[in-house]
Amino acid sequence: MRLLHRRKPKSSPHPWEPSAPLLHWAAGSPWSVGDSFMGTMVFGSTGSGKTSGSMAALCRAMLRAGYGGLFLTVKPEDRQTYTEYVRDTHRLSDLLVFSPDHLLRYNFIADEMTHSRNPVGLVENLTTLIMTVTELGERGSTAGSGGENERYFRLEAMRLCRNALLVLVLSGELVTIPNLHKLIVSAPQSLERIQGGEWQATYCGECLQLADNADKTASQRADFDLALSYFLHEWPALSHRTRSVVQSTLTSTTDMLSRGAARDMLSSPSPNVSPSMMYDGKVMIADFPVLVYRDVGQLIQVILKFMWQRAHARRDTTKNNRPTFIVCDEAQLLLVEEDHRFQAISRSTRTACLYATQSVSGLVDALGSNSEPRVHSLLTNLQTRVCHQQTDVRTVEYMQQLIGRSRSLLMSGNQTRDENWLAPMFGQDNGASSGFSEAWEFELQAGDLNGLAKGGPPHCVTEAIVYQGGRRFPNGRTWLKARIPQEPRRA
Ligand SMILES: Nc1ncnc2c1ncn2[C@@H]1O[C@H](COP(=O)(O)OP(=O)(O)OP(=O)(O)O)[C@@H](O)[C@H]1O
Ligand SMILES: [Mg+2]
Repeated sequence: MRLLHRRKPKSSPHPWEPSAPLLHWAAGSPWSVGDSFMGTMVFGSTGSGKTSGSMAALCRAMLRAGYGGLFLTVKPEDRQTYTEYVRDTHRLSDLLVFSPDHLLRYNFIADEMTHSRNPVGLVENLTTLIMTVTELGERGSTAGSGGENERYFRLEAMRLCRNALLVLVLSGELVTIPNLHKLIVSAPQSLERIQGGEWQATYCGECLQLADNADKTASQRADFDLALSYFLHEWPALSHRTRSVVQSTLTSTTDMLSRGAARDMLSSPSPNVSPSMMYDGKVMIADFPVLVYRDVGQLIQVILKFMWQRAHARRDTTKNNRPTFIVCDEAQLLLVEEDHRFQAISRSTRTACLYATQSVSGLVDALGSNSEPRVHSLLTNLQTRVCHQQTDVRTVEYMQQLIGRSRSLLMSGNQTRDENWLAPMFGQDNGASSGFSEAWEFELQAGDLNGLAKGGPPHCVTEAIVYQGGRRFPNGRTWLKARIPQEPRRA
């Protein structure tokens, strides 16, 4: 079997045409620009060669073809690894590093305000973003159990967020996370406080009055009346316990966004980075590895990913068709529900999402109980699946079912040996029987996945089973075994 082939520039169509090959899994089996837009998930047990095998090959291929993109980071060494790919593909002049010790800063609210068509659009988009970040905080807690209670509290937190943002936007106050936080915590807590009129002196009360007096369209007036009724009647009438759970669900996120690195990097007064820079070929490493920065690293990178996806979704690819990527190794730590929504439209946005994780079980565990349907929905939309050596039974079964069964003929034979054991040689029947039976067996056996080469010396080659939805490879099958060499390590 031949090793992974590189794209041959001379014989290719324009490098950004969907049919242009980026690499070859084996001779005659290209992975093209169009394939990259359909999304890719790399699976493999720990040390199976995900990062140094297929992820490295796919990242380098996209960089070589001139993609812009965003690298998310989990391990401390990720920045170094991605910088090497960028250097090796002669793209250092496109490299941007988003980290506290570099000068790049972003402002997600300012970015959203530039692109939202109207205040209602802005409120909806920011609500979705804040609820997405809130989802991260709920993982691993009892609130992440996926039950009825959790759904109720989530819906209530979303209502609070939407109403508070609407009031803030219509009031003409600066739309910032600290102001949103202030408005939420100062909202009237009881009907008595409403009757006593004290609420009017609070920040929430001031914003309500400013929004009431501001010029509004008929539709904005109707929305504002709902928000007014919410803060003056519904919110204070909730039971104390419900109100405090709903409020803390939201304020734990707004609080985190208002402090330290999250505030400095994502709410900068003088932002100098935006997703549209990727369309000019910039390649940004979000150097907030989750294993170093923990919750803050997750929060910053999930917001970047969300905003990048939103920008790509509204992008006009007829004006600039440069492909872009979003790459995330150890993706279980950074995947959120919004990702599968984006994946459903990523093809038309010319975005290649490339994720790697150890196993289906690991993904389900990380996304919280009851997340299996969401995991499968995401996987369904990631058409290329690359599976390195695997020991997780769930992933093995998943790949087996994906690839399906094929017919195999089993030959059976039986012979009773009695004293005249030479009889068959002379054409005499001696109680022997034979036959064929037909069986539909999984085409891919567990041993095919367990036994794949994991890389490392002396051969420095990793192996993986590659499956691409709806594709038949020259070997006549829907899958093939690729051999992917590891690039030599740098000293
Ligand atoms: N450039 C390289 N040359 C040779 N061997 C390498 C190279 N990079 C990694 N290895 C070795 O290859 C094997 C696979 O490593 P790799 O880091 O790619 O696995 P992984 O699947 O990403 O693991 P993890 O889940 O721990 O991230 C390991 O034994 C590793 O030490
Ligand atoms: Mg790895």
